[in-house]
Amino acid sequence: MNQALAVQSGKPMITKEFPKWPIWNDEEINRVEQAVRSGVWGVEGPLLTEYANRFADLQHAKYALPVCNGSIAIDLALEVLDLRAGDEVLVPDYTFMATAVAPIRRGMKPVLVDVDRNTFNIDPECIINAITNRTRAIIPVHFGGLPCDMEAIMTIAERYGLLVIEDCAHAHGAHLNGQYVGNWGSVGTFSHQSSKTLCAGEGGTVVTNSTRLFTLMKSIYNAGRHGCEVDYNHYRCGTNYRMTELQAGLLLAQLDRFEALAEKRERGGALLNNLLSEINGVRPQVRTANLGRHGYYLFTFILEDDIDRDSFKNTLRAEGVPVEDEYPALHSLECLKKKDVTRGHFPVSQMLEDRSVWISHNALLANEDQITLIADAVRKVINHKNVL
Ligand SMILES: Cc1ncc(COP(=O)(O)O)c(C=O)c1O
Repeated sequence: MNQALAVQSGKPMITKEFPKWPIWNDEEINRVEQAVRSGVWGVEGPLLTEYANRFADLQHAKYALPVCNGSIAIDLALEVLDLRAGDEVLVPDYTFMATAVAPIRRGMKPVLVDVDRNTFNIDPECIINAITNRTRAIIPVHFGGLPCDMEAIMTIAERYGLLVIEDCAHAHGAHLNGQYVGNWGSVGTFSHQSSKTLCAGEGGTVVTNSTRLFTLMKSIYNAGRHGCEVDYNHYRCGTNYRMTELQAGLLLAQLDRFEALAEKRERGGALLNNLLSEINGVRPQVRTANLGRHGYYLFTFILEDDIDRDSFKNTLRAEGVPVEDEYPALHSLECLKKKDVTRGHFPVSQMLEDRSVWISHNALLANEDQITLIADAVRKVINHKNVL
C-alpha cells in the first residue's frame, strides 16, 4: 500500500467509472412519451394517480400526494398541521437549509438542535433541552438515509404534545423496526430533485396515514378545490403545489427499478461501513441496531485523523472516489444568522461541517470489488497523511 498518490502522479486506486446517476433507459422515455401523447399533462393525469398509489405502497403509507418539490412538501405539512407564525419548530442543525427555511417562510422560529455523534441525526436528548412552552413541532431529518431514533422522538413528542413531520428527502425506502420512514409522525415529506435516489429532475411527495390531513393537503395543493378537480369551485385559499404528469412518468419508470437498486445500495453501504470501520482515523455513520434498511442517499464518515479535510477530499477524488461537497451546519449560514435563529451550542454539527466526508450513492451501486477499492483508497490516502 505504498504506491504514490494519484495527486503526485501515481496510479489512481480506481480507474473504472462508477455507475452514473440518474440511471435511466427506454422505460423513462416510454413513460414520458406516454404522458406527452396522452395530451393530459397535469393534475388529472392517470400517471400521477398510478405514481401516488405506488409510492404510498413503497413507503407503506395510506396516502401519498405528489407535489412540485421537497421544500414545498414541508411547507404543505406545516400548513395542514395548523402550525402558525410564532410557533417554535425543532430542526436538526445539520441538514439541508430547506428543513429550517420552510418554517421561517411561514413566520415560525426554527430552533436548531444538535445531532448525535454516531448517527449524525437529531439527538433526542438535545430535543428535550430545546423544548419551551412555544414549541409545537419537531422535524427530524433521516440524514443521508439513516432513519432517526423515531421511537425516542415519538415518545418525546407524545410527552410534550408536539407534532412530528419527518423530512425524508434522503430516505426513500428506508425503514427501522419494521416501520417505514414517513409513517412515524403525522406527515412525511420526500424530494425527487435530480440527485435523490428516486428522482425526476424536480418533484416531491407527501405521505400520511390520516384521511383528514390527506384531504386537506389535496385541496390546498390544488387551489383550494375539492381533490384533483379542475373546476372553479375554490373552498379555501389554496395554492398550486402540483406535480406534472411528465414527472410522474419519470418517477414510475424509476420506481420499477427502485427496490433492486435500494437493496444494492444497502449491501454496498453495509460492506463499505464494515471496511472503513477497520481503518484507523475514519469513523463511518453508525448503522443502528434496529435499522431495517438505510436509504443511502449518502455514505458519510468522519475524518478523525489530524489531516486537512479538504486536502483529504481532493486526494481521495484523485484516487477515483466520487467525493461530494458537504453541507455547512445551519448555524453557520449567514441567511439564518440574519434571522437570529442560530444561537446555541452545536459541537457535533460543527464537527460534521469541519470533518465529514460524503460519498455519493451511485458509488454504492458498483460491484463489491470496486467498493472494496474505495476503502483501499481511503487507507492509501491516510497512509500518506504526512505529505498532505
Ligand atoms: C433534507 C432535505 N430536505 C428538504 C430538501 C428540499 O427538497 P427539494 O430540493 O426537492 O425542494 C432537500 C433537498 O435536497 C433535503 O436534502
